Amino acid sequence: MTKYQIRGGKTLHGTIEISGAKNAAVAIIPAALMVDGVCRIENVPQISDVTLILQILRELGADVRTVNRTTVDVDCSHIRNRQVPYDLGRKIRASYYLVGALLGRFGWAEVPLPGGCDLGGRPIDQHIKGFVAMGAEVEVRNGLIYAQVPQGGRLTGNSVYLDIVSVGATMNIMLAAALADGMTVIENAAKEPHIVDLANFLNSMGANIMGAGTDVIKIRGVERLRGGTYSIIPDQIEAGTYMAAVAAAGGEVLIKNVIPKHLDCITAKLVEMGVDVEEQDDAVLVRRSGPLSRTNIKTMPYPGFPTDMQSQIGAVLCLARGTSVITEGVWDNRYRYVDELRRMGAHIQVDGKVAVIEGVDKLTGAPVHACDLRAGAAMVIAGLAAQGVTEIDAIHHIERGYETLVEKLSAVGADIKVVNVPEEDSQAQVG
Ligand code: EPZ
Repeated sequence: MTKYQIRGGKTLHGTIEISGAKNAAVAIIPAALMVDGVCRIENVPQISDVTLILQILRELGADVRTVNRTTVDVDCSHIRNRQVPYDLGRKIRASYYLVGALLGRFGWAEVPLPGGCDLGGRPIDQHIKGFVAMGAEVEVRNGLIYAQVPQGGRLTGNSVYLDIVSVGATMNIMLAAALADGMTVIENAAKEPHIVDLANFLNSMGANIMGAGTDVIKIRGVERLRGGTYSIIPDQIEAGTYMAAVAAAGGEVLIKNVIPKHLDCITAKLVEMGVDVEEQDDAVLVRRSGPLSRTNIKTMPYPGFPTDMQSQIGAVLCLARGTSVITEGVWDNRYRYVDELRRMGAHIQVDGKVAVIEGVDKLTGAPVHACDLRAGAAMVIAGLAAQGVTEIDAIHHIERGYETLVEKLSAVGADIKVVNVPEEDSQAQVG
């Protein structure tokens, strides 16, 4: 079994360069399915979720070529298959974007129900509501989503009011509507930076989308999308994770290739906690030398504090003076990491969507489990700040969303490495 081994207690100093945004990349790559021509996509993060989505596109008949470490050419001019392989599609949450993309371009799609992190119930009723409003017939059976436009042809633009602010439904409906006949209006749309990024990508390929980044998005369907070049935005959550790491471990790190505006909600909370954050044009300088102060956090859709930063900030608050309260406002079950932090000496009580954290003077290294992607990131942060050695298993979750995390942290002075532990030893440790 492969684990991360962290010898904690080292402050962090230097520069970290942020990669392209995972949650933009996993929507923009499926969007290339809708384009007749070559899409050159730049600033693509090298993470396993991206590898998987590119593999799915290849299985569907796309010509995918690596141009350099962060650039791919995707040509979907000759797609021969609209059935997404079951074993690939079910492994990743973002496979739901293949429904919108295939339905929009070809009028039918067959896609496994998506997988992804276990955060409680993850329904897709709002995605389906949008497709149905545009004239599709959608059925879920045998673990698959079957979607088609009756008698072939194109979807028809319509108004869709989302009952809940959903990132996935907003992007999926935007995809389907880009090639629909007429105007689609999404009301109560999500406003995350990756929604704007997907709209910009589609517009640069010839789509007509207005209002992305507000809660009303208007999409006038076009006949065809053509190829072009597009660069994905930097990853807001990756940047926030390293900001939280500096807050927990101490030190001074320049976090480069970011859009500081996208980090405002994270910066505001870290400043409240006593961390210095200096915004530059495309970087933030994060510094922490004094004690951390308590704060309260409530996660909510953008521009609120992101749920995808909840566990990382939770790890930092374990070391803050006083009592902090976190309220999870998006997912039903995003506190599975708490048991793991308790192994390291954290004092946290959870009641439903609320976690109460009593700050402690120190955390101590322990064998812990990365329950999901961001929970894994929280374990890394706690391990960096803890006294002694922390070993984190199930690191495949972390590698779904963080490019070269070990290298990036080592470069700023963290003592972190990948170790291979024989299966029986790791069983004994995990108990
Ligand atoms: C996206 O998930 C992200 N995943 C998640 O990132 C992120 O936590 C989430 O948005 C919220 O920001 C990807 O982009 C691949 P939602 P998504 O639809 O689209 C409910 C990470 O760590 N809902 O915005 O699945 C849902 O249950 C991950 O990178 C419905 O009820 O999230 C949730 O309570 C994990 N019906 C809320 O809406 C629907 O049809 C928000 O979900 C859709 C969602």
